[in-house]
Amino acid sequence: MTDNRLPSDFLWGGAMAANQCEGAYDINGKGLSIMDIMTVGSSSKRRRATPEIEPNEYYPNHNGIDFYHRYKEDIKLLNDMGLKCFRTSIAWTRIFPKGDETQPNEKGLEFYDDLINALLENNIEPIITISHYEMPLYLVKKYGGWENKKLIDFYLNYCRVLFKRYAGKVKYWMTFNEINSTWFLPSISGVKITADDPNYLQVKCQTMHNLFVASARAVQMGHEINPNNQVGCMVLTTVGYPQTTNPKDVLAADDYITRGTLAFTDVHVRGHYPNFVKQMVRKNHLTIDITDEEIADLQKGTVDYIGLSYYSSSVVSNKVNEKEDNTIGGNFSMGLKNPFLEANEWGWQSDPDGFRLILRWLGQRYELPLFVVENGYGHEDEVLPNHVIHDDYRINYLKQHVNALAEAIDEDGIDVIGYTPWGCIDLISASTGEMKKRYGMVYVDLDNAGKGTLERYKKDSFYWYQKVIQSNGDEL
Ligand code: BG6
Repeated sequence: MTDNRLPSDFLWGGAMAANQCEGAYDINGKGLSIMDIMTVGSSSKRRRATPEIEPNEYYPNHNGIDFYHRYKEDIKLLNDMGLKCFRTSIAWTRIFPKGDETQPNEKGLEFYDDLINALLENNIEPIITISHYEMPLYLVKKYGGWENKKLIDFYLNYCRVLFKRYAGKVKYWMTFNEINSTWFLPSISGVKITADDPNYLQVKCQTMHNLFVASARAVQMGHEINPNNQVGCMVLTTVGYPQTTNPKDVLAADDYITRGTLAFTDVHVRGHYPNFVKQMVRKNHLTIDITDEEIADLQKGTVDYIGLSYYSSSVVSNKVNEKEDNTIGGNFSMGLKNPFLEANEWGWQSDPDGFRLILRWLGQRYELPLFVVENGYGHEDEVLPNHVIHDDYRINYLKQHVNALAEAIDEDGIDVIGYTPWGCIDLISASTGEMKKRYGMVYVDLDNAGKGTLERYKKDSFYWYQKVIQSNGDEL
């Protein structure tokens, strides 16, 4: 292994999201978010939760890992691990409980004042996601979610408060977590439409357009309020390999990456829709409400960097029926099994080469800095006497992925500015609500039913990552 493959100012960090860690779901004026009505279960069951809180039902996000009350001790642990940055989100519903108010909730802001100050005191740079799967439930019930253009102004009102309040304290922002996830799962943006609805495509396109406009205007606003701000997008990435050398499979795999990921980064980075999207709209006779001003704003609000998540890859076939008994897991992007790769209990296939491919594709296409703000391996952990946790499987995964990242930088010349592995402290799974699907280097004593002391224990991966950071990636 050669030395100094990574730049000396590389941002080593960890990532979490408010709704999956904070808990305190109804404290100090916080309103309900869409994640507050989610139960535990398989992805589909969790997503079918009723839009009200029911008695006798367990809602894991209500208490999260109690980061809201324990963030000071948690930040000390992160500091001990050597993190240079920490990515988290701000819960929209702490600042605007319903989402459409004009004045923010001061108590909610005070929590983030304290959190951000605590990070800075520990020399950890805060990286903020403005909206991470936790929009106000009220905006869904009253306005129908992001399909409604009114949400653009509500969101911008929220952004303005954050950009002003944290000017000079937060430099790196991301507008929407995994914006392309709405394409696969519109309900994540509060839109109630199912794939069998004849308006499915129309509604999805309008929803995506509204999100893009909101994001582009937020980028402009971030720059106006503080020219030092770096405002990025965040996309979910995964590779889909063609199942065979049949050119039709190769085309299907190309569709998978272009239509599933690159269409979204194209709009954020180039400031306009790619031609194949325009063709899709035209050929399907969709009537999307798009104004000239919005088109101009997309162009004016191009991002400073591309934030991305990468966990696994899959295999793509042009024969849809083959997918039925051969699918693997993944939050939104189902695909076929790859005989060359190992998968975790949830079917997520570990593929560091796919990671390098993604970094190459994005880096070469856009020549813009990339920020890997999520990557990791969900696995159950066993706690041995004296709270020892040997998580070699996680270390192996992270080691291979950090190595792929270093190769992308060092050999392929890709500009990657940082790496924040997901759930550096165990937290609630977004897709299933489980605790046992752990990503952390810090163990949290909590089970799927919400039982446990909530104490934190360092896993073997904690010490491993500490050395990686100390050696700037040389010691893997
Ligand atoms: C990403 C999300 O898709 O994957 C995170 O941005 C999520 O919120 C992460 O937690 C891992 O997925 P899961 O379902 O295992 O928690």
